[in-house]
Amino acid sequence: MAGLVEGKVVVVTGAGGGIGREIAIMMANEGAKVIINDLGVSVTGEGGSATPAEQTKAIINQRGGEAAINTDSVSGWNSARKIIQCALDNFGRIDGIVNNAGILRDVIFHKMTEDDWTSVINVHLSGSFYTSRAAAEHFRKQESGTFVHMSSTSGLIGNFGQANYSAAKLGITALSKSIALDMQRYNVRSNCIAPFAWSRMTGSIPATTEAEKARVAKIQQMTPDKNAPMAVFLTSDQAKHVSGQVFACRNNEIFLMSSPRPVRSVHRDGGWTPTSVAEHGMPALAGSFMPLDRSGEVFTWDPI
Ligand code: NAI
Repeated sequence: MAGLVEGKVVVVTGAGGGIGREIAIMMANEGAKVIINDLGVSVTGEGGSATPAEQTKAIINQRGGEAAINTDSVSGWNSARKIIQCALDNFGRIDGIVNNAGILRDVIFHKMTEDDWTSVINVHLSGSFYTSRAAAEHFRKQESGTFVHMSSTSGLIGNFGQANYSAAKLGITALSKSIALDMQRYNVRSNCIAPFAWSRMTGSIPATTEAEKARVAKIQQMTPDKNAPMAVFLTSDQAKHVSGQVFACRNNEIFLMSSPRPVRSVHRDGGWTPTSVAEHGMPALAGSFMPLDRSGEVFTWDPI
């Protein structure tokens, strides 16, 4: 039986481990020819090795799939173009890209350095732009193509110590919506996934007390492969009616996430003064304020 993405050529960035590896494997299982892009860096973006990408390729080849490796960085205009070119060189075309590569530099905001900020923004937000922009030229010409970008509930909702990451991840949803709007005329689609997974990115969550250990045991059930079916579906022609959306995948749960819309309004004849904003505007709006919450306070139940 033909796979859902049979014959498509798909680039998966950061496919040397974690979620990206599982997406690459499932893409190949479903008939795609895959470019496994990975720098092989540490969680914070240091070092570099081709081994993780080679391991993913070995798994795909073992199962009879086709894949090629690319070890250029997503975080530069020219290097990102090489990633897309690698698909053309190896398989003659490009049909889809999954922007999954990522690093973390978690630190409380008032201690965040310029390097903490730029390195995370460069890989996640700029990297997603560079690879997408390089693929877009081909998608426009062939009048088809798909983008899947990894966002995060850290950006969609909030989290401590991740101002750089949250800004990048929410920025990615705006990038995706903009691409979806601009390229709809060329039959090109763009969507986001906010994944949940036990991976090396979440592996540093402390677990000393019994309550923490129980929580970590729950998170460990959320294996990275649980995010792959959505990425493969969004890349397939079955999703031709799906664009500009943000989904979350959490173990066996799938969510459609909301986009910002006006939630409550107030107007005043003759306009506002700072004092009338304080005395009339804010009391009228305060009932609908968004709480200063974090992802864990919205996803309050154990993953199913
Ligand atoms: P991971 O650290 O296991 O994998 C990320 C991969 O990206 C690594 O193999 C790394 O070598 C590669 N990479 C880093 N910088 C790169 C660059 N400049 N160019 C090419 N490759 C590069 O992380 P994980 O957990 O699999 O995360 C994958 C994606 O999902 C990331 O975008 C992450 O932000 C996102 N995410 C993950 C969550 C989780 O619970 N694990 C939650 C929310 C979002």
